[in-house]
Amino acid sequence: MRPGLTITSEGNYESPSDPGEACYAGSTKRRSVTPEEAQILQREATGLRCLEIGTGLGVSTMALAVTAASLCSVDSDDWVHDAVIPELSLDDVVFVRELSEVTGRFDMAFVDGCHTKASVLRDLQFVATALEPEGRVFIHDCYIADVAEAIAETVLIPICAYPTRCSLSSFRYPGTVPS
Ligand SMILES: C[S@@+](CC[C@H](N)C(=O)[O-])C[C@H]1O[C@@H](n2cnc3c(N)ncnc32)[C@H](O)[C@@H]1O
Repeated sequence: MRPGLTITSEGNYESPSDPGEACYAGSTKRRSVTPEEAQILQREATGLRCLEIGTGLGVSTMALAVTAASLCSVDSDDWVHDAVIPELSLDDVVFVRELSEVTGRFDMAFVDGCHTKASVLRDLQFVATALEPEGRVFIHDCYIADVAEAIAETVLIPICAYPTRCSLSSFRYPGTVPS
């Protein structure tokens, strides 16, 4: 694991130097996917063009980058771009700050940005436009009420609810081909 991260009692990584997520007025520290979830993402990304929303501490980014054919990762926070991304040394990954900077089509998306309902709705609406018809979207923290409500309002079809600590689940959009 990247130096400087500590594992929490819940099994996520966090960074002591994290100033907190801007989307929660800076009061909430970023928490990564768990090692088990990173393994799932790494396996599922194999050979695929992947989009990640929420680089954060880079734990999921590093996992996806191992097996993905390509990876674009989005994070709006300056601290992530200044303190995290340079430490990842992932020269082949495209890092951007806004969804409007994302180009291309994707086979898999991983949504782990801001967990307010409005943000998740916006992220899922964007992913709908960027995924190939048979593409899957993986969503972290589905147990959070705002995330669950956004999923329900987007009308996603569940594929797999992984039995992980933070409710990692995969979905497809209606009208697309099951994979
Ligand atoms: C929970 S962290 C992601 C953790 C990451 N998946 C990991 O495993 O290390 C969520 C990230 O989403 C970013 N974020 C919040 N709102 C965003 C937005 N509107 N667009 C892009 N990124 C956003 C935050 O800056 C934060 O770094």
